[in-house]
Order: sequence, then structure tokens, then C-alpha cells
Amino acid sequence: MAKRKKKLKDLRSQRWYGPEDMRASSHRARSRQMGYSTEDFAGKPRIGIINTWSDMNTCHSHFKQRVEEIKRGVYEAGGFPIELPAMSLGEIMVKPSTMLYRNFLAMEAEELIRCHPIDGVVLMGGCDKTTPALLMASFTMDLPAIYMPAGPMLRGYYAGETLGSGTDVLRYWADRRAGLIDQETFENVIGGLSRSAGTCMVMGTAATMMSLAETLGMALPGSSSIPAVDSSHALMATATGRRIVDMVWEDLRPSLIITEASFDNATVIDMALGGSTNAMIHLIAVAGRAGIKLDLDRFDTISRKTPVLGNIKPSGKYLMEDFYYAGGLRGLMVRLKERLDLTAKTVTGGTLGDSIQGTTIYNDDVILPLDTPLYHEGGTAILRGNLAPDGCVIKQTAADPKFHQHQGKAIVFKDYVDLSARIDDPNLDVDENSVLVLQNAGPIGAPGMPEWGMLPIPKKLLKRGVRDMVRISDCRMSGTAYGTCILHVSPEAAVGGPLALVQDGDIIKLDVPNRTLNMDVSKAELNRRKRKWTPPPYPASRGYTALFAKHVTQAHEGCDFDFLHAGEPTPEPLIF
Ligand code: FES
Repeated sequence: MAKRKKKLKDLRSQRWYGPEDMRASSHRARSRQMGYSTEDFAGKPRIGIINTWSDMNTCHSHFKQRVEEIKRGVYEAGGFPIELPAMSLGEIMVKPSTMLYRNFLAMEAEELIRCHPIDGVVLMGGCDKTTPALLMASFTMDLPAIYMPAGPMLRGYYAGETLGSGTDVLRYWADRRAGLIDQETFENVIGGLSRSAGTCMVMGTAATMMSLAETLGMALPGSSSIPAVDSSHALMATATGRRIVDMVWEDLRPSLIITEASFDNATVIDMALGGSTNAMIHLIAVAGRAGIKLDLDRFDTISRKTPVLGNIKPSGKYLMEDFYYAGGLRGLMVRLKERLDLTAKTVTGGTLGDSIQGTTIYNDDVILPLDTPLYHEGGTAILRGNLAPDGCVIKQTAADPKFHQHQGKAIVFKDYVDLSARIDDPNLDVDENSVLVLQNAGPIGAPGMPEWGMLPIPKKLLKRGVRDMVRISDCRMSGTAYGTCILHVSPEAAVGGPLALVQDGDIIKLDVPNRTLNMDVSKAELNRRKRKWTPPPYPASRGYTALFAKHVTQAHEGCDFDFLHAGEPTPEPLIF
């Protein structure tokens, strides 16, 4: 039974339904249109359920069912559920990139919470940007909130081999481009890949962000690792619905759960999972909404001392289903308990330490012991230098170690169209030591910072067996991707960052152990190039894209809108 801090009269929804006036009478009466009498909801907390389901989100196809299970839990606990559909941001179908719309969903969810008569909210997310967007909104609004992760899909299979989303498609696609397999074989690979509802089942952005939401304390313990179609997932959905009702009475809000230690915990877990490079951008943005300053140096400090223990693709060899059977996120937390702040709070009202009590690790090859890690440092490293004064990232565990210290001549593509047109040109002056550079693909340049950062290996090199090269860009890379890809170069080329000044033939020097990325070009020459540089045309003069380009911050700042992570809180709506 919830320890009640709130009385019925204190509930936010009472402002809509409680008073004996014309407007509140109308609110009560209008509920009859949907078949609810006053008795159905009187005296109950109203629980918003933000559902990111749509026919265009392939990963959330089970949300139609899950929302009913959440509602059941809300009813069981004495609440009244209200489903609120929101932009679904299906990663596969939305172009140019869901990243263009992460802030759109964050704004939409914030306003959905603000303008409706709800006392607490369930956040249904999973596919890449949905998780950070929903957390950003809930931290800003600071009503009791609980996140329900979509969960990963089942393992893929092809010809007796297990397949991971993205990671293995990209590998087979390289073979296809090299002429090693035909189109029919490739279609069969793809056909065996997506076997159920749920998110990508490697440690991509979705699995990373679901794990980090749980680590932050915003989801029920153990929830983020459950495969989407496992019956335990349905049970978890119902339990989530029950829990949010109690959270309302307890007045357990994000600001009472989230601290700096929560974000350090999330960073430790991110590094130990070999998590998606996208997590840097999202965690910085989410922390900003909680009023916590997180910077790239903090990630690197934690990365230096956190080994990768999650033996999961694309860095390792297993998939999320294996991770679940091995003990899941709580198993990993047990391994790392000395490095986590176990006093951090969670949506249970207890601590992270309480959440991992009694957890067993069932497979030491999936959740590796501390003394035999997959890699001695964290999955992601932060680099700086005259090419990226404000930083950039590399997933060092997914890069060929021979490139960790490398120098080579730049081959520059001025944008993605130029890259597509020339990468397979037989006359391109490229060899395996070249450094491929993509400009104008960042937050403003693209716009929306798409996942173009795993630049394709030129076909003529693929045919010679080359499968990795050093690649540099100001865009992102799918969390499922791999290779020596240096991403999120900040400031981006479109605002005149040094990336815009690189020219063909410049010597690029990469040193991951020493965390540097430089071009061997004198300051005087860079100044000369800067004077001649002109910005590319603005991506749009109207609509959301124009708003985005005008207000988005750079990658190292989290790519939130400047007006959303600063300024006075928006007042509660007046009710007339
Ligand atoms: Fe939805 Fe990968 S496409 S999680």
C-alpha cells in the first residue's frame, strides 16, 4: 500500500474535475461521451499513458497490446488511465533521421503532460530517440513518471547463424557490394532478421537507452532487458501501470529520483555495455532537463576506468535475448556494484541496491567477469584536437585496433550527396590507409545529424578484402554499426568548425589511447582557409526544420533546443 503524501484534493487533475463550477461540470459531463460516468473516475488519480505506437514504428507494434496491460494495472491500483498518442519516431521509416524529431517528441510529450488533467504519466518508448525524448519531457514537467521499455526483439537467424539487427546486415551488405553474395542471399538474410516486435536486439541505441533509463531509476528493476514478446514483458507492463498510481500518492517525482550520481551510474553502465555512441548526446540532453551539467570529459573519465563486460554485438558476440537469460541489466549491475552508487533512488521508492538484491548471473560469457573483460576501458572514447576542439566520439571497441593509432591522407566529401556520387568511383584516389572525411552532415548541416557516420568502404577496396578504414564526420552512426568511425565532430562543418576546412591530401592523425584527433595543417593555413570559407545554405526557411536549425545546440551540448534547456518553467495552464 502506497505511503500517501497526497490527498485527493491535492491531485493536479482536481483542478479540471473538482470545482463546483460550470467548467469542471462540463469536464465531468463530457467524459460520458466516452462511456465513463463520474463514478468511474471520481477520487482516482488520472494516469496519462504516452504511447509512441504507430503503423510506422516497426519496433513498437506490440504497444497496442501493452497499453491495455498498463491500463489494467492502473485500474487494479485504483487509478484512471488516459492514453495519449504521440509521434512514434520509428527509426527505420523516418527520414532524414529521427534525430531531427527527437526534440519534436520531447516538446510534444511535455505539452501533452502540461495541458491535460493528469497526475502521473507512463512513458512508452524504446525505439532509439523515443526514450531520451520522453525522459526529457518528464524531467521538465516533474510529475510522477515511469518509463516502460519496449524491450528487444528475438534473435535473428539465417542458415543456422544468429543475426543481430543492423550489425549483421551491414556485414552482409559489405559482402554484397564486394560481389561475394548475390541479391537473393542478401534478401534471405534480411528476411531472417526481424522475427518479432521489439527494438533492435544488439546493443544499439535502443537497447542502450532502455538500459540507461532503468539505471537512472526511471523504470521497474529488470524491465529493460525483457524481450518484447516474452510474457514477462506483459506482466511488467501491468506492474508499471500499478506502480505509477502509487507513485502519484507518494508524490514520487523525477526530481526526487534523479541526481548527478544517477547520471554517473548511467555512464558506468553505458561504458560497460559498450553502448551506442548516441548515448552521449542523449544523456547530456536528458541531464540538462534535470538541471545537471554533464560533459564529454565526464564520459571519458568514467570510460578510462570502466571495462566492457557486456559481450554483446556490435562490440561482442551475443544478443539482447542472451543478455536477458544471462541475468540482464541487473546481472551487469551486480558485476559493477563497487563502481555504482547503490544509494541512488528508483521509481520503486527504494534504491538501486534494493533493485539488484538476489540477482544471479547465469552465463559468465555473456556478462563477463571484471578480470576478463571484453575491453579494458569503456566502449566509447572522447577525442579532441585541432579537428574537433569541442570533442568527438569513437566506439573504440567496434574499431579495428590497428587503427587506434593511425595517420593517413584525407579524402573529403563535402556532403552526403557528394559521398554517394563518388565513393565507388573507380578513379577515386583511395587506399586502405586513407581517411574518409564527410562534411556538412551535423545537427544543422544535414540537418538533423543522421546516422551516416559509418561511411561506406569504396567498392574497389571491399573487393580487395578491406572491411574497415578511418572515417570522420560530424554526424552520428547507428548504435548497431561498427568500424573506426569518428563521430559528432564539434563544432560541425556547417557552422565553420575546423572539419569544414579539411582538404584532400591533408594528413590526419588519430591517437585513441591519447585521445587526440588532429590534422597536420598549420594554424596560419587554417586561418587562411577559414577566411575563404562560406557557410552552406540554411537547410530550410520555414516549418519545423527551420526552427530546428535555428535553435539546436551542438553535439557536445546534447542537441537540445536552446530555449528548452534554459529559461523559466512554463506555467501550469489556467483553467477556464
Ligand atoms: Fe527501432 Fe532499431 S529500428 S530500435
